[in-house]
This record gives sequence, structure tokens and C-alpha cells, in this order.
Amino acid sequence: MATDADHPIPRFPAGFLWGVSTSAHQIEGAADERELSVWDAFTAEPGRVKDGSTAAVACDHYHRHREDVALLAGLGVNAYRFSVSWPRVRSGKGLDFYDRLVDDLCAAGVRPVPTLFHWDLPADLDWLDRDTAARFAEYVALVADRLGDRVTKWITLNEPAEHTLLGHALGVHAPGRHLLFDALPAAHHQLLAHGLAVRALRASGATDIGIANSHGPTWAASAEAADVEAADFYDVLLNRLFADPLLLGRYPEGIGELMPGDVEADLEVIAEPLDWYGVNYYAPTRVGAPQGAEIEFGGVTMPAELPFSVREIEGHPVTDFGWPVAPEGLTELLTGFRDRYGDRLPPVVITENGCSYPGVDDQERIAYLDGHLRALHRAVEAGVDVRGYFVWSLLDNFEWAEGYARRFGLVHVDFDTLERTPKASYRWYREVLRAQGPTA
Ligand code: NOJ
Repeated sequence: MATDADHPIPRFPAGFLWGVSTSAHQIEGAADERELSVWDAFTAEPGRVKDGSTAAVACDHYHRHREDVALLAGLGVNAYRFSVSWPRVRSGKGLDFYDRLVDDLCAAGVRPVPTLFHWDLPADLDWLDRDTAARFAEYVALVADRLGDRVTKWITLNEPAEHTLLGHALGVHAPGRHLLFDALPAAHHQLLAHGLAVRALRASGATDIGIANSHGPTWAASAEAADVEAADFYDVLLNRLFADPLLLGRYPEGIGELMPGDVEADLEVIAEPLDWYGVNYYAPTRVGAPQGAEIEFGGVTMPAELPFSVREIEGHPVTDFGWPVAPEGLTELLTGFRDRYGDRLPPVVITENGCSYPGVDDQERIAYLDGHLRALHRAVEAGVDVRGYFVWSLLDNFEWAEGYARRFGLVHVDFDTLERTPKASYRWYREVLRAQGPTA
């Protein structure tokens, strides 16, 4: 899948957002200048993070954000997706920081696109408590009040599916719970938090609100009924558990009964119309019937009692995380979404796409991104209304339970000196953006 200079990446529609993404806990550091989150507590437990590291310093972006804004300006992106740390806002100093960051981004001609929750829940809160949704909306109102004069595009939550599955069902992310299907209330409360946040944002005058959900096609391991059934179930969890309530105002069959509270009333809040829908896409998943044994996949241990098992995808290269490289999955996902949700699907933005590889001459990352941009364009040609694309990530950063071992950045970070070095992929993306022409 080499890039072919003779066949430039096709032009995307006028006004397209071209960006990169990061999140607060993964890059900011300065942990002693904010309140603690569930991730600080989780990381402090031995064995939770594979390389034993913490995000106490990370990329030290909190103290070096000017250098990072200069990297964004040099890259030529017209948008930057970052997240606001709720524990930092609570500490009383956070809003000053985001205020400066937003000013610097605007001065550099880069549109700020904040995510209001990217997994760093304040340590004393819990998504199993319904009240956390109301606390979230209060915090969102504070942020909107402070930044809303310059921020015009908002993201409520990042990947509630992963936060529920990895953090509450399988225990490999914070807060480290192994609840399996009893984790579903955490999903419902995040959805409720999202709906209440949309209302709070609109009350503050915001008009361009989305959410970033992880999605990818599910490929059944075979045409056997047991494999197809298991794959369908997995597909409900990844691709419909959050999208159906958000876009259709209902849970997939059999799920609503497992949710707490007055679900029908909550669904009205959850289904507040969205201005756009964010998709984080990395790879498809091959799924088959359970195999009666624990499975280790992509850094996650899945218990034997799950009603499905994740399998290798053969015939595709893999990243150093072991994730398959399958750009066609992005076209399939987006056209499938358009077919499933029809005119209930608002314009789509790819809020994350990227891969982990070592080194600064990262030709594999260039091939990955090149292939995915072409696949995205095929979805546009097939009639999907796509309005933007954000690479994950600007910087190498704290990759959750993997620590610093997985490098997703267009910019290399030396975690001893904190020196930033643009990689070959940074220069490649800059050329792609130049060739796309004025994007403002
Ligand atoms: C999705 C998450 O939103 C982000 O935090 C993470 O680093 C990337 N995927 C890569 O795993």
C-alpha cells in the first residue's frame, strides 16, 4: 500500500476541516497542578500500565503548549481537537489554561475543537452514579461560559463505548472494573450526560455540537450461524449501543431493559439532535463464536464468558499494536452507517484515525494515512456527507494501559528530554494539506 505521488489524494469538499487530535490526560502532564482523575488512581496501582509509567509529566503540554501550537501552525491544519480536563477545571486553574490555549490557537488560524470528556473523570465521581451526568452538565456550562466566545465547535464525549467496555466491563482501563454486562449503566449515564451537555451548550448559544464515537465494521469469522450471531452481537455493542439512542432515540433490541432509571424519559434527552457525528476509526474487527477460553487481543484480555471471541484478520498488515490495517473498512463503515441511519445521520467528521509505529522515518504511518484518506474519499463519492478528518495524534503520548510504548504521533516526543521532532508523516500530511488548497 505505497503512496503514489503520481496519484495525489483526491480533493475533499470546500470548507473541509483538516486537523489532528489529542487528549488532556495523554499529553498535558502537570498532574500536581490539577485535581486527580480515575486515571491517576488506576495508574498508581502496580501492574495496571504495562511499562509502569504514569501521565504525571506526559508531553508536558501544559507548560509547552506554545511550542505545540507552533507545530500545529507549521503543519497547516485548520482545526485542532483537544480535550478539556474536568479535574483541571475543578482545581480552579484549568479555565485560565484553556483560555490561553484557545487564544493562541485562534491567533495561529487554527480552529479549536474541544472534547469535554476524554476518560479523565474526577476521582471522586463514578459513571455508575446517575448524578455524574448532572455534574457533567454543570461543568460543561462553566466551560462554555468561559470559552464560548471563541469556540464554535464542540464535542461532548470521547468514545463512551471504549470507556464502558475497557474501563467498566473488562477492567483494563480506569476505573478498572470487571463488571461485564453489569457495566451497561455506565454507558447509559454517559449518554445521559451527553444529552444534558448538549442542552447546556445550546443554552449558552453553541450551535455546532457533536460527539466522538469509536466505530469499525465487524467481520464475521465465517458464514456459520454461531459466528454470524456472535459478530452481530459484537456489532450491536460497538456500532449501535451508542449510535441508536443518539440518532434514533432508542436502544437496540434487548438493551433498554438492562438500563437503569426512567429509560424512555432519558432517551428524549439523549436524542437531542446533533449538528454532526464524530467517528473514530482504526480497524475492523473479526468476530466469531466464543471459544471457551480467555483471549488476548490488541493488548486486551477478554474473558471466556463473553458471548463472542475476537480473531486475527488474515491477509492484512498490522501496526505495532497488532491492529490490522484495512482502509476499506472505513468506506464500508461510513456507507453502512448512511444506509442504516439514512437522514437521521448528520454530517460526519472523522474525529480520530491513526496508527502506532516506532521511529521518525515512519513510512508505514504515511501508507496507513494515505490509504485511509483515499478510503474516506470513496465514502464521499458514494454520497456520505463527510466534513472533516483528524489524525490521531499530533504528538506521541501516554497511550493509556500501554504507557509510552505505543507511538501514534506525527511528532516524535523524547520522553526523557521532552524534545519534539516532526516525523516524515508530519511533512507528508503538511504536503497533503497544501495540495488540498485553502481550507479555511
Ligand atoms: C482512541 C482514544 O480516543 C485515544 O485516547 C487513544 O489514544 C486512541 N484511540 C489510540 O488507541
